[in-house]
Amino acid sequence: MPANPELLEITTQLLKNCDNGSQALVSLLETVQNQFGYVPPSVVGLIADQAEVSRPEVYNAIELSPSFSLTPSGDHKLFICNADNCCMQGGTELMEHAIHVLGVKPFETTADKKIRLESFQCLGNCSMAPNVMVNGRVHGMMDTKELDKLIEELKQ
Ligand code: FES
Repeated sequence: MPANPELLEITTQLLKNCDNGSQALVSLLETVQNQFGYVPPSVVGLIADQAEVSRPEVYNAIELSPSFSLTPSGDHKLFICNADNCCMQGGTELMEHAIHVLGVKPFETTADKKIRLESFQCLGNCSMAPNVMVNGRVHGMMDTKELDKLIEELKQ
């Protein structure tokens, strides 16, 4: 797919204020991720040039960090708490269920771009474990039946 000139221009302007060199790679990726919600593959070359690293090194850094994604986020974000209290009270099963129902792994977006699944380390609502958060709203004492209902709502 040809690179979108506007995207390249915006990224070029964005990166002008950033540091150069390999030490700056993560911060360059954060800058781009924050701007677009993901790291468009067509700007990886710009990032590699500024960080003075190879393109595979940029892809490797993206792969290693769940904070970065090469695909746009979904319309909705479904976070499932991955910390001890929630996991011990059903959070692990909720995540397995969501993976199965949505057909994605954590930090991936469904094919219809509707839902991005993410895990999260403690939503601060441990007394209501297990917790999930949808578009910023925490839902406590979740079970797979209620999760199915939430997912159905998000798909509409
Ligand atoms: S452990 Fe899940 S909200 Fe604290």
